[in-house]
Amino acid sequence: MGKALDGVRILDFTHVQSGPTCTQLLAWFGADVIKVERAGAGDITREQLRDVPDADSLYFTMLNHNKRSVTIDTKNPEGKLVLEALIQKCDVMVENFAPGALDRMGFTWERIQELNPKMIVASVKGFGPGPYEDCKVYENVAQCVGGAASTTGFDDGPPVVTGAQIGDSGTGLHLALGIVTALYQRTMTGRGQKVLAAMQDGVLNLCRVKLRDQQRLERTGVMKEYPQYPNGTFGEAVPRAGNASGGGQPGWILKCKGWEHDPNAYIYFITQAPVWAKICNVIGKEEWATDPEYATPNARLPRLKEIFAEVERWTMTKTKFEAMEILNEHDIPCGPILSMKEIADDESLRKTGTIVEVDHPVRGKYLTVGNPIKLSDSPTEVIRSPLLGEHTEEVMAELGYSPEQIEALRTAGAI
Ligand code: COA
Repeated sequence: MGKALDGVRILDFTHVQSGPTCTQLLAWFGADVIKVERAGAGDITREQLRDVPDADSLYFTMLNHNKRSVTIDTKNPEGKLVLEALIQKCDVMVENFAPGALDRMGFTWERIQELNPKMIVASVKGFGPGPYEDCKVYENVAQCVGGAASTTGFDDGPPVVTGAQIGDSGTGLHLALGIVTALYQRTMTGRGQKVLAAMQDGVLNLCRVKLRDQQRLERTGVMKEYPQYPNGTFGEAVPRAGNASGGGQPGWILKCKGWEHDPNAYIYFITQAPVWAKICNVIGKEEWATDPEYATPNARLPRLKEIFAEVERWTMTKTKFEAMEILNEHDIPCGPILSMKEIADDESLRKTGTIVEVDHPVRGKYLTVGNPIKLSDSPTEVIRSPLLGEHTEEVMAELGYSPEQIEALRTAGAI
């Protein structure tokens, strides 16, 4: 079976996490992704957070599946010529260097267009144009400047960053969408274009509901589904909402049986309005279904703490999986707090290819997250990440270099 992006060639000039997330997705959809790495060193993540001596780290392997690796010193004049040959052969260049690095290397947008007017140049940067455009940015900086940190955590504590890599992987995902959209437009215009995904913008896009709430707060001074209501105070900006649901159906994280010794013995419970009567039945508070103080969503808003405390008295008598089973029988939305260990062992995630075991010649077997986006006509096969420069000769030969020329470039330190 073919793949959605068969025939698309990506010059992958990315490193660390945001850019590699994007190009790994494109590779899973069938693009030929050629990762250009610094000769002798490679992507810095190959050696970061290592758990097996001398083997590429999980940080690297889990973000660089299905790619080919070539090493080129793109500051060496002869190495530059090799990169130029690649630019002429590829459809998309993806990069996430610090601002200005590509220009300093001599590969400005104008130069790339001269070499290949159909080339799409896609970049991740920390910020879009403006006062901070020259700044280097990492994940947590993006979370802080994109509105995630100020709105995450509890009211009486400091801002908190989330473990989900919404700045890096999230922005890589945004960039991938920009690239396939630009490829589609190119089929009509015949032209390449620049695609920019700024990490601040990507995080803010994911925090859209908090900008919604900022405006609600300014208009009404209070947000009734927030835990600050009715006894706390609201300031000028959207406060941290703890584990409140963020939507129109109030929810909270509740203790389950074993919470005293298991840090993840909790369940997320949603008091969805259409199933309120069933909730009352399950927790043994049948009278709340008709009591005007509890029967409607609006009546419940000032009593959410009391209601969740009552539900928790019930969930504490069940394990999170027992609670999940019982609540699902009644169509009550909920979800157990799964640990990474539980997720790694989850059979159904393995069956769908969301968790995949991969074999690597140096590190051996490891688990990774496969393609979370399933296409019925473009199945994903997860192939181990390349060793540093594993495909240099193969790619050079495809570019038309003879074995003698390749050897000479190697001696010159260009590759
Ligand atoms: N051959 C020769 N030189 C190479 C090369 C190659 N194959 N590949 C990269 N380089 C050079 C670059 O030209 C640059 O040189 P310069 O500083 O002289 O211009 C240098 O390597 C370092 O690149 P840089 O991107 O500045 O790396 P860094 O380690 O200093 O910064 C980041 C890392 C992530 C902070 C920075 O790249 C960044 O802000 N990127 C954009 C935002 C982003 O993606 N952040 C999230 C990362 S998960």
